[in-house]
Amino acid sequence: MRASQPARPAEVLLKVEDLHVAYGKAEVVHGVSLDVRKGEFVVILGRNGAGKSTLLHAVSGLIPKRAGRVSFDGRDITGLSPREIVRAGVVQVLEGHRVFHNLSVEDNLLIGTYAHAPHGDRGKLDRIYALFPEMAERRQQMASRLSGGQQQILAVAQGVIGDPRLLVLDEPSSGLAPMVIDRILDVASQLCASGMAILLVEQLVDKALRHAHYAYLFETGRIATSAFSEQLREGDLIHRVYLGGGQQAVAA
Ligand SMILES: Nc1ncnc2c1ncn2[C@@H]1O[C@H](COP(=O)(O)OP(=O)(O)O)[C@@H](O)[C@H]1O
Ligand SMILES: [Mg+2]
Repeated sequence: MRASQPARPAEVLLKVEDLHVAYGKAEVVHGVSLDVRKGEFVVILGRNGAGKSTLLHAVSGLIPKRAGRVSFDGRDITGLSPREIVRAGVVQVLEGHRVFHNLSVEDNLLIGTYAHAPHGDRGKLDRIYALFPEMAERRQQMASRLSGGQQQILAVAQGVIGDPRLLVLDEPSSGLAPMVIDRILDVASQLCASGMAILLVEQLVDKALRHAHYAYLFETGRIATSAFSEQLREGDLIHRVYLGGGQQAVAA
């Protein structure tokens, strides 16, 4: 390591060790180890179908783990249910801006507080509306009437309102206009600066590396390499990982 290189924060928040995940007999994640430190914004980059969502779903308890260990702030959360994992402080925003179309913006947000308060926690709305003014303007609107970009912002807001210690974002850029993507990544950086750790999965390499501190490159179920974002921006490793199909993502 060069003396000028930044160091990662010492305290580990999420620790994934030798994780294997399979659908039936087909193993998709082959022994992944990674971590997210306190105060960090970490990105996992990798081509479509590499197993990134599968990894995130296993961490969040949404699909079973075949082998390995996941811990959060020193506590073993490997065998916990999704709800218990949310309670422990890990909230995942799923791919594809999934919100409840037949509910208002505000009701969608209140759902994000149910894990901690069975009847919703209205007190948290003000903070969320300050962070997401575009949602405050549309609080009574049905989610079905929002644009795709607004729905994604709502999905992120719904994750943030639960006040997670680690916010996990699975390809929030998917299908969105560049301005909306920048808005979402800016909010993620803002949340990180206020103390929330971020784990992002993204295919838009350049945009992701501009926001994240540290990056893992995922190649067919394995971590190919990891480095500080600025090192990856300088090197050509990224292009190797994306060769043959991911060139557009690199250029975006
Ligand atoms: N529910 C599922 N059942 C069986 N195979 C799946 C399922 N979900 C994803 N896969 C397969 O697992 C691999 C990894 O998928 P995924 O984790 O979605 O990748 P990524 O998020 O990196 O695009 C792909 O080959 C995909 O077809
Ligand atoms: Mg995915």
